[in-house]
This record gives sequence, structure tokens and C-alpha cells, in this order.
Amino acid sequence: MAKKAQATWGGRFSKGPAELMLAFGESVSFDKRLAPYDIEVNKAHTAMLQSIGLLTKKELRDIHKGLEVLAKRIAKGEVEWKAEFEDVHMNIEQLLTKITPAAAKMHTARSRNDQVATDVRLFFKDACGQMVAKLERLLGALLTIAEKNQDVFIPGYTHLQRAQPVSVAHHLLAYVEMFGRDIGRFVRVYENANWCPLGSGAIAGTTLPIDREFTAKALGFVDARGKPQVTPNSMDAVADRDLFLDFAHACSVTATHISRVAEDVIIWNSSEFSYVSLPDAFCTGSSLMPQKKNPDSLELLRGKSGRIIGNEQSLFVMVKGLPLTYNRDLQEDKPQVFDSFDQLSISLDVLTGTVEGMEFREAKCAAAVSDPALLATDLADYLVNKGVAFREAHHVVGALVALGEKLDCPLNEIPNDQAKALHPKMGDDWMEVFDLQRAMKAREGAGMPGPKQIRKQLAKWKKSLG
Ligand code: ARG
Repeated sequence: MAKKAQATWGGRFSKGPAELMLAFGESVSFDKRLAPYDIEVNKAHTAMLQSIGLLTKKELRDIHKGLEVLAKRIAKGEVEWKAEFEDVHMNIEQLLTKITPAAAKMHTARSRNDQVATDVRLFFKDACGQMVAKLERLLGALLTIAEKNQDVFIPGYTHLQRAQPVSVAHHLLAYVEMFGRDIGRFVRVYENANWCPLGSGAIAGTTLPIDREFTAKALGFVDARGKPQVTPNSMDAVADRDLFLDFAHACSVTATHISRVAEDVIIWNSSEFSYVSLPDAFCTGSSLMPQKKNPDSLELLRGKSGRIIGNEQSLFVMVKGLPLTYNRDLQEDKPQVFDSFDQLSISLDVLTGTVEGMEFREAKCAAAVSDPALLATDLADYLVNKGVAFREAHHVVGALVALGEKLDCPLNEIPNDQAKALHPKMGDDWMEVFDLQRAMKAREGAGMPGPKQIRKQLAKWKKSLG
């Protein structure tokens, strides 16, 4: 069954699209969330049209008043979005037509191609700002727990084997670095979004005497000095989806960081490790086993990362074979970025909540880190300090480890005479290297886990967060 010709572009058609095509082609069910940006863009565009004499002052007033009425109705959820008008842009134009006849002039000198490109740039600027704010809250939570646990030590791992001791603070500061880089990534996406494509038209601009700087300025697409920034090529402006890829990528990297943190904490929380206890508020029980308290928030965070990475992949696959410029395929660009935004937003909040309620079990941490094997490398360094070549020192300490295994005793309890027999440079003080506090204090180089370094890093991050 065919519908009557479509109201906005139906001039050349004798029949409207099939119901099936309407259902298939509509995007308003998901792009309606661009409505606030679309209204802003409509306001700026019509103000520009008035400034160049293509709208009267009265027409502009009527359009702006009408758009404000619509904005309120949309915010209250009172607007009925219609699939027959395809997308948010045409729905808003149609709704405005019912308020003022001047609405018929609103689409002068533009296309939905440059319109949607402009709307999404406003969305990306907003979205990046929100991500940065959420990342900063997460950093705040990590810093608080790190500060509290400067004197709690745990084994650091490589290959998931105990490697060397670190303070909990140093480990948490590693996460701070990761999420700090994520902030930088979102700031760069914001900067790339800050160029106005409006005025590019469908593909080749317009013959009408528009003022692109006017709209760019009105919409806040300006540099640090307030100078308007307009995209330099009309074809690129309507075909370009780099921001979608960049934003989705920034989300993927952050989600990957979240997933790795989640994995660490899941391991720390396991009965075998028991380094941390998690807040009840972010765990769930088992419907069968009464004793269970499962780290579900962390497992979901790990799981969501797959979905967010998938969104990025699907955008690349969608864009890669498209000829310039706009193709309707590009309408499929929005669900993925909206999903990445929504899922990452809630993930960041959930990780922040989980971190805030996380407590380190000091006795368990102390027991794990008391393993003197963690300081075997320090013993090799001790020999190096006495002039032994590192390879030789490594070999000597390896022999000591083997001896410990043979005697079934920890490294620092191997009888002094047997240890000293391994190398002439093993003095009576060799056991001192197994003093944990001393070992940590010996690591005060830049980026190392020495207590002064940690205090410096904590202070630096706290200052940068304000
Ligand atoms: N809903 C469309 C999209 O998001 C808007 C652009 C439509 N342009 C067109 N030439 N049909 O891609």
C-alpha cells in the first residue's frame, strides 16, 4: 500500500513510499535525541537567513517562538514523532509548519546533509564534555583510594606471576594514567568536532548569499579567540564521518581500560587472592548458592567493553566502501555512537561507584607481599652494586632460589653460610635487601613506586583535577 506523496520532498513523486519502506527508512526512532541540537541549528540558521535578508524580522520571530514552543514540548515528551517524516529534522520542520507558515522558509540554503552533520558535531562536543567530567570523577575516586593505601603493599604481576612488590597506590596510579590519557583523547575529539559544516548544502554549497561565519559563531564553533571555524570543503563536510570513528574509538579505548581494571579487581577479589572486598551495592548474590557474593558490576564492565569495541568496528565497515559524498547508508552511523556513549557513560559511573566502595584487606595483602622471592631482583642489584656483572648476579640469585626450593625454605631464611658460599661478594648483609620498606625507598626514580614518588604523583594529579 502506497501513501500520499511525502510532504517535504514529494514534488516529483506521484506516490508516497510503501509502509514497509517508511518503517525501514525512518531514523526518527533513534535520531530524535538530536532534537535539542537540531533546534539550536534551526535557530542559528534562520537568524543568519534574516541577517542576509532572506527572512523578515517577523518571520524570524515567529520561527524562533515556534521552535521554543517545540523545544518545551519535546523536553516534556509531548511530541508524537512520525515515521512518515523519516527523521528528526523533517519531523521538527513539519511540527513547526503547524505553528507558523514561515516554517516553509526554514530549509532555505541548506540540506539535511549539512544539517545532520552540524547536529552531530554539537552532540559530539557535548558528549566529549560529559565523558571528560565522568572520567574526572573516576580519577577522583581512584586518587582517594590510592591516597588511603600508600602504605599497603601487594605483589605486582607479570604473566600473572608474582613479580615485584608495589604499593596499592602505585597500582591505582597506573589506572589514573590510563584514564588520564582517555581524557586527552576525548578533548582531541572535541577539538575536531569544533568545525561548522553548515552551508555545505547537499554537496556543493548554495547559490544564495549565506554567511557561514555567522552560523558558526552562533553555534559556538569558534577557536580560543572566538574566531568562527567553518569546514573548508563542502563535499568532505557532508561525507566525512571521521568524528564518529574517532568518538567510537575514544570510547573503545576507555572501555578497554575499564575492562582491564575490572579484570584486575575481579582477580584481587577472588577467594584465592582476597586482596579486596567489594561494596555490596555493586555485587549480586547467587539464586542457588547462599554464600556467593559475585563481582557482577566488574564482569558487566568487562562484557560491555566488547559491545563498545563492536560499535567502532561496525562504523568502520559501514563507511569504508562509500563513494563520496552522502549515501543513505550513513544514516546507520548514529545508533552505534549513541550506544557507545550510553554504555560508556553508565560504565564510568559504575566503575566509580565500585572503586569508591572498594577496600583493601591489609592482612591478606601483607601476607602475599611478604614472599621474599618478590625481591630476588633486589638481591641481584645488591651484587651489581658490589661490582658483579648483572648476568652473573642473576645467575647467583637463581642458584639461591633453587637452593631455597631444595631446602623448602623462603629466600631470606636460607642459612647464611650456604648463601654466602654461592659467591664471594655475598656479604653478611645480603638478607637486608628483603626488608620491604627499604626496598620501596630504594625506588625513588621518576615513575617508580618509591613513597616520595607516589606522594609527588598524588599531589600532581590532585592539583590537575583542581
Ligand atoms: N536522516 C538522515 C541521516 O541521518 C538525514 C540526511 C538525509 N539526507 C538525504 N539525502 N536523504 O543520514
